[in-house]
Amino acid sequence: MSEFTGPDFYQKNFDPKAYLAMYYPLEGGTVHEHLQFVLKRLARIFSSGKVKGETIIDIGTGPTIYQLLSACEAFNNVIVSDFTDKNREELKAWLINQPGAFDWSPVVKYVCQLEGNRISWTEKEDRLRKAIKQVLRCDVMQNNPLSPVVLPQVDCILSCLCLEGACKDVEAYVTALKNITNLLKPGGYLVLTGVLGSHYYMVGEVWFSGLFLTEDIIKESLSGIGYIVENFETSAKQFWKEVSGFSDFFVLFARRSA
Ligand SMILES: C[S@@+](CC[C@H](N)C(=O)[O-])C[C@H]1O[C@@H](n2cnc3c(N)ncnc32)[C@H](O)[C@@H]1O
Repeated sequence: MSEFTGPDFYQKNFDPKAYLAMYYPLEGGTVHEHLQFVLKRLARIFSSGKVKGETIIDIGTGPTIYQLLSACEAFNNVIVSDFTDKNREELKAWLINQPGAFDWSPVVKYVCQLEGNRISWTEKEDRLRKAIKQVLRCDVMQNNPLSPVVLPQVDCILSCLCLEGACKDVEAYVTALKNITNLLKPGGYLVLTGVLGSHYYMVGEVWFSGLFLTEDIIKESLSGIGYIVENFETSAKQFWKEVSGFSDFFVLFARRSA
């Protein structure tokens, strides 16, 4: 199977609980190495003093909050967004601490440790819940991805593991990058995490397409639309071997030219 699984397919078939169980198995309190790699880089980026400001928007948040735990130390307002209703509902369940919501506490504890245990993990959860001001619908293929909501441009855009799934080819990838850049102030930062060499990933029994990207394609796409890539790190895949086809994880940050 090689056809592109577009937004309507996500809306119908992306099961947040199956996704969380497959990619974020936290029973027993262990944080697997992919997450450790990403969390360490995000902690470093958001404590650098460079990537900070009033507001950050996370694009394609899905049902996850791990990516926001260090970001909420550097930004007062966090806006999260996703295309599917079910993902936004799952996020809202965590936000109001609803019974049955996903238990992120092993990840929260891990990030507290990375940040020097300045606050307890429960304080950290409270801080993130207070920082998240809006949960919005988003489509990266729209000129204003948050339409019909119109926001002033923000200081930082974050997006994790979203564009490889949302874009059918490199042309669409560049368009999606341009679209999310419309939300970012000149001089602001884009923080992107994702996978290289992707073909597909599974959510439960359902197959989703993945866009094949290389470090060069990503760097060229970003410099072509006015970014300066300041850091790009990769880590060879060690997890999720049976459920997804790709070669490496990456984390990058890039500054939008002023
Ligand atoms: C692999 S999940 C990543 C979720 C989460 N950010 C993470 O790091 O695990 C991909 C996410 O992209 C979202 N998505 C797919 N197409 C989209 C689109 N056109 N616009 C915005 N989000 C989209 C999906 O709903 C899904 O939540």
